[in-house]
Amino acid sequence: DIIDYTLIAGAYLLGSLSSAIIVCKLAGLPDPRGQGSGNPGATNVLRLGSRKAAAVTLLGDMLKGLLPVLLAVTLQVSPPVLGLVGFAAFVGHLYPVFFQFRGGKGVATLLGVLFGFNLWAGLATAATWLFIAKGLKISSLSALVAMALAPLFVWLFAGAQWALILATLAMVVLSFWRHRSNIARLVKGEESLIGKS
Ligand code: G3P
Repeated sequence: DIIDYTLIAGAYLLGSLSSAIIVCKLAGLPDPRGQGSGNPGATNVLRLGSRKAAAVTLLGDMLKGLLPVLLAVTLQVSPPVLGLVGFAAFVGHLYPVFFQFRGGKGVATLLGVLFGFNLWAGLATAATWLFIAKGLKISSLSALVAMALAPLFVWLFAGAQWALILATLAMVVLSFWRHRSNIARLVKGEESLIGKS
């Protein structure tokens, strides 16, 4: 109904607000799309040299996934609509209507959505990312491993909620596609370390 459509459209619009681009502009930093990996995301903002700006970017990109999902939970939408609301926020981040449809890779937004789907699935995915990032210091690889496990975590902690598992799987596949240049660099052993260019 109208509430479902409004939630899905609103999530897409919110997801379209690129935290990296907005935060860098406000902080007087260069546009992340023209620096480092060229990706408007927290990892690349950190490359610009500001931990604070990177942290705000991470938080902003997570919140735009989390908030619409929490709102949808509160309004007690059906599971397929809940999955679509999270997916819409994620797609907004990847293909933002406000930035010529050229957005980021979706790791932080996916994490926010997962926290909304199921707290434990979000925590497990975040912990996997942190654990691997701490050991290997490679943001993309940590994200790829954590995301590959995310659908499993949703299934483990939320049970057989197929709409949420399917939505998670779709987001993971899209994000892997957006990481294709990272994957090529990883294979060649040329991927940059966290905080380094
Ligand atoms: O969240 C994106 C991260 O996994 C990789 O970012 O800038 O190294 O391509 P970047």
